[in-house]
Amino acid sequence: MNQRPNNSLSLSDNDSFYSPSDDFAQQARVSSMTQYRQMHEMSLQKPELFWGAEARELHWFTPWNQLLNWESPHAQWFTEAKTNLAFNCLDRHLEAGLGEKAAILWEGEPGDTRAISYKELHQEVCKLANVLQSSGIGAESRVIIYMPMIPEATVAMLACARIGAVHSVVFGGFSADSIRDRIEDSGAELVITADTGWRRGKTVPLKENVDKAISSNSQIKKVIVYQRTNTPVSMQAGRDTWWHDEMASAPGQHEAAKLDAEHPLFILYTSGSTGKPKGILHTTAGYMVGTYTTCKYVFDLRKDDVYWCTADVGWITGHSYITYGPLLNGVTQVMYEGAPNYPDFSRFWSIVETYKVSIFYTAPTAIRAFIKAGDEFIKDHDLSSLRLLGTVGEPINPAAWHWYYETIGNSRCPIVDTWWQTETGAIMIAPLPGATPIRPGTATQPFFGIDAAVLDENGNPCPPGVAGKLVIQKPWPSMLRTIYGDDDRYRDTYWSDYPGKYTTGDGAIMDEHGNISIVGRLDDVLNVSGHRLGTAEIESALVAHPLVAEAAVIGAPHELKGEAIVCFVTLKAAESQSPSLSSELREHVGQSIGAIAKPDQIYFTSGLPKTRSGKIMRRLLKELVNTGEITGNLSTIEDPHVLEELKATVLGVSS
Ligand code: WT7
Repeated sequence: MNQRPNNSLSLSDNDSFYSPSDDFAQQARVSSMTQYRQMHEMSLQKPELFWGAEARELHWFTPWNQLLNWESPHAQWFTEAKTNLAFNCLDRHLEAGLGEKAAILWEGEPGDTRAISYKELHQEVCKLANVLQSSGIGAESRVIIYMPMIPEATVAMLACARIGAVHSVVFGGFSADSIRDRIEDSGAELVITADTGWRRGKTVPLKENVDKAISSNSQIKKVIVYQRTNTPVSMQAGRDTWWHDEMASAPGQHEAAKLDAEHPLFILYTSGSTGKPKGILHTTAGYMVGTYTTCKYVFDLRKDDVYWCTADVGWITGHSYITYGPLLNGVTQVMYEGAPNYPDFSRFWSIVETYKVSIFYTAPTAIRAFIKAGDEFIKDHDLSSLRLLGTVGEPINPAAWHWYYETIGNSRCPIVDTWWQTETGAIMIAPLPGATPIRPGTATQPFFGIDAAVLDENGNPCPPGVAGKLVIQKPWPSMLRTIYGDDDRYRDTYWSDYPGKYTTGDGAIMDEHGNISIVGRLDDVLNVSGHRLGTAEIESALVAHPLVAEAAVIGAPHELKGEAIVCFVTLKAAESQSPSLSSELREHVGQSIGAIAKPDQIYFTSGLPKTRSGKIMRRLLKELVNTGEITGNLSTIEDPHVLEELKATVLGVSS
């Protein structure tokens, strides 16, 4: 490792950091730690200078008069300014003569392909903006987008942004019940969906799920359906229309709305520690400047890059680093519709080779699946176009890091481990690839303008190497503004630990150089394949089953998914337990949340460990599953006898 040629990363003296190669650093936007530290310092001391300069690279109909108006916990960024995100993603590039540049190189799961230029994307977005407006959708109307990974998902988001409608994208893997909850909570009036989508060679019944979600709901006035697979679907006259019919007659010109900086942009639901997902609200200008700037620096974008983020637009990664960040930067990106292992595990690498992808951004869970599948799926593919790799969603274990670095990056490409959240809108902690020495599994340094700290219970900084709570001590442009319809929950969840500081919910450790490693969630939220799932959400799905009395859900380490979902269930009547009940409950959870929430393991038990006030002691269950014993503090347990039965159940021995 020490003898690497000049174009590779090299291990530094203490044998655990990889420094950027000279070649990479020389061409990078930020090329040394000295430069990073100067810029970071300046961005915190003089945010007007840093964010002002970044923001001025974008288009404003009216400039701001104040960078930030902060009345904790409410921020307004770029006050009085008027802008439009879709204009900045599209029209701005057409005006700069980049209309013919490819915006999206798309590949469908069956192998069909499309190349869409910025000009064509602009045209489609203008048409759909007109369709939405003539359907009665105006500024602040809420629109649900439930789509496969096709360019029309991006078109739908940008069309909303163009007219000031608020989109709420629902991941295509979520169930009808989840769509219904989101429609009700957001007060949406219109749904954009597709007949079905492709996933592993099978069709996903998107329109059918929408039909179920709105069968008893009159709030949705219109459903626009894109024909992706031509699978027959039922169309309700007066409510449902075809995308192609609407677009055929829509004008291709549309003047982008001049929106207030704080105009709501989207609501994206994410799991919290109660059963009800939180509608995270993001607004226009701050989110725009945050995603633009982070995308540019963290991926060190150049004009000829071919960028590929493998996320789904249904998650925040797809919002910030498929739709908004890359298009704001005028980059060419690859978009892929289907599963990484369809028809086999070589699919991603054949895409990298075909489109000459230079920047590749994926999740550790996918990397672990590739390792397991075996290197034979990679060896026949030319991956030499890659110059930068990224990860997101969960900590990357060193074994996965080394494989990614060596087998995919050929020991030449820096890996940016990006830590952020649905709430933060944009990357918060990540290496700058030309500057920051990288240590496997460490998200490293805070981005410009981000004041991150690791604090103890009393609000004092933890010494280097000691774990504490990860907080952000100053507001930042792309921060969430509230939880839609529940500002009290916003205050309680994020701002009540330490006054004026944002609590991330993650534990972290900082080293003596200020590098931050993420330890994991501190609340009752699981990270399953990089997706957040609340234990309370799964528990409430389980107890909604007629046979279930009580349920407790915990996470356990899982080789591929990071965390597995383990459930303890008590039944109303013990005799109702049957050999098929586990799979019935798994299906039931799948129906009420989505396939990603299906439990990996269900234990049936006659009782759960509780405190005297009746709170389920999940930490004991977690310890039992993870270590095979219970050693923790048992003084508050109401009935210690249940532990014996639980041990016997989990360890498979009779007591
Ligand atoms: C949670 C946020 C950020 C987009 C995808 C997930 C975990 C995220 C990392 C990372 C360690 C990470 C945290 C965070 N997480 N990125 N690089 N290293 N942990 O967004 O669903 O809002 O989840 O994902 O626990 O709080 P999300």
